Amino acid sequence: MMIVTTGDSPAEAELNRARKIAEQSGIRLVPRSRTSIPNLFPKYGASAVLIVTQGKVRLFRADQPVLEYHPSMGYVRAKRLLKGEPDPMIDAARAVEGDSVLDCTAGLGTDSLVFAVRVGPKGRVCALEASPELSVLLQEGLASYEVEKPSVTAAMRRVEVIHADHLSYLRSLPDDSFDIVYFDPMFRKPVYDLSAISPLRAFADARPLSEDAIREAVRVARKTVVLKEKKGSGEMERLGFSSDGRNHAKITYGVIPID
Ligand SMILES: C[S@@+](CC[C@H](N)C(=O)[O-])C[C@H]1O[C@@H](n2cnc3c(N)ncnc32)[C@H](O)[C@@H]1O
Repeated sequence: MMIVTTGDSPAEAELNRARKIAEQSGIRLVPRSRTSIPNLFPKYGASAVLIVTQGKVRLFRADQPVLEYHPSMGYVRAKRLLKGEPDPMIDAARAVEGDSVLDCTAGLGTDSLVFAVRVGPKGRVCALEASPELSVLLQEGLASYEVEKPSVTAAMRRVEVIHADHLSYLRSLPDDSFDIVYFDPMFRKPVYDLSAISPLRAFADARPLSEDAIREAVRVARKTVVLKEKKGSGEMERLGFSSDGRNHAKITYGVIPID
């Protein structure tokens, strides 16, 4: 069970935000009452604690590194895109202004943010996350985090986060309802130098992608279905993607072209 609380002596704005999260996500709001973070777990029988403080949302789990929303490489990639530089994910997806994107594995929303910058206000990015804890963290982070470039902050606000398992969600969609359907599952074996991902592992859904999900994605997509994977994982072949052939890269983007 997850609970949400604030810092000690919260300002009214912090308390309102925590209340709103509790209402929207159906999570229990508890008073902080100067309780230390480790003591919040036994006191409320919680397995995860979301702490809202000014401008920050942090997710705690006993004995795990804290997870905080941060756009990380998403901001760097967004700025490069805005300068007209290429991004291999965007190129593989053939994403252009006005496209609609269904990100089936939202995580911390780095890729969703890059898509949101590319497709702009006329486009749409919907990000699905199976973990209830991660989906709340991401929703709050994208709604409140500010970066220097206003157009990137605006792109964060446009990403729609949905707590859902992608297979069920895809099944509920009509044919041809998104231009691009994107997958970035947890790697079967972690790539240790991708450290941005490691605190996420404690919360993430680590199931392998199913052939059913890809079949549904092909039905739902109008332009491309894209898979990010570790090179040599065998997943591209197993799931019917052709790789982008970047020979030097550890990460590859596989594509199933639809149009
Ligand atoms: C490698 S991370 C994605 C990172 C993300 N692309 C980013 O840029 O931050 C994979 C995420 O997909 C989520 N996930 C795995 N299976 C899922 C499913 N069936 N439906 C929805 N989300 C899923 C995991 O919980 C995890 O957060």
